[in-house]
Amino acid sequence: MNTVKTIRELRAAIAQARAEGKQIGFVPTMGNLHAGHAALVEKAVQRADFVVASIFVNPLQFGPSEDLDKYPRTLAADQQKLFDAGCHLLFTPDVEEMYPNGMDGQTRISVPGVSEGLCGASRPGHFEGVATVVTKLFNMVQPDLAIFGQKDYQQLAVIRALVRDLNMPIQIIGEPTVRAQDGLALSSRNGYLTEPQRAAAPALYHSLEHMAEAIRGGERDFPQLVAIAQQQQIAAGFRPDYLEVREANSLRPATGADHQLVILVAAFIGSTRLIDNLTLDLGAAR
Ligand code: PAF
Repeated sequence: MNTVKTIRELRAAIAQARAEGKQIGFVPTMGNLHAGHAALVEKAVQRADFVVASIFVNPLQFGPSEDLDKYPRTLAADQQKLFDAGCHLLFTPDVEEMYPNGMDGQTRISVPGVSEGLCGASRPGHFEGVATVVTKLFNMVQPDLAIFGQKDYQQLAVIRALVRDLNMPIQIIGEPTVRAQDGLALSSRNGYLTEPQRAAAPALYHSLEHMAEAIRGGERDFPQLVAIAQQQQIAAGFRPDYLEVREANSLRPATGADHQLVILVAAFIGSTRLIDNLTLDLGAAR
């Protein structure tokens, strides 16, 4: 696996793979990789002949009071994990390479609708930063397909919308969330948790499972379910940010008549903000 830092080297390596008739798969990341990222790369290896990953901690998607500076940079360990998962090429640009005109001089991509509410409300500008960097990376790599984790459910919806709206010929594949045995979704931010916080953290997903169980049992009073689940989160030591039931494809607020649902949550444990989600297909229950 080669690691390149410049767009020129990246394009040269990809041009060579293309000249050999290879399909290009892409997995963009911010590094500090875990088994969830390895699953994305493994999926890309199954679906494409030449797999490119990127590691770039994108300042444009962090708010002023967020964890940009303390976001873990673990390049050597990440390279090993990518190599083990079968990645062929790693792109690790610096901020200058990605934003040569500075952040203020950068053209931005804004995706209406699915960017609004949820993390879009809690983290103003976040999805504009994500959509902008992903668009730039897509233009640099020009992949046939790109793979993202479903743990960042709203991000995946934003990326699907931008690819559709900007007519990019890229297949977007969402991969299921990888969880620890106790149910906690794997996340780079889990590394910030103290031991007691880590022990309490699975309660977040368990509160979603309780909601899902009630919905599968016929309950449709979503505000009531949210209130109960947030009490469970608070009892476990969380400070709720949001908890909502949405229609799974459009992300509009769910009604009792919807069959494809997603429950999305964000909550703080100490100063660490965790997100998770659970999708429900009620089609068979009709
Ligand atoms: O999910 C992430 O790691 C990032 O938001 C992404 C998609 C790599 C863009 O910086």
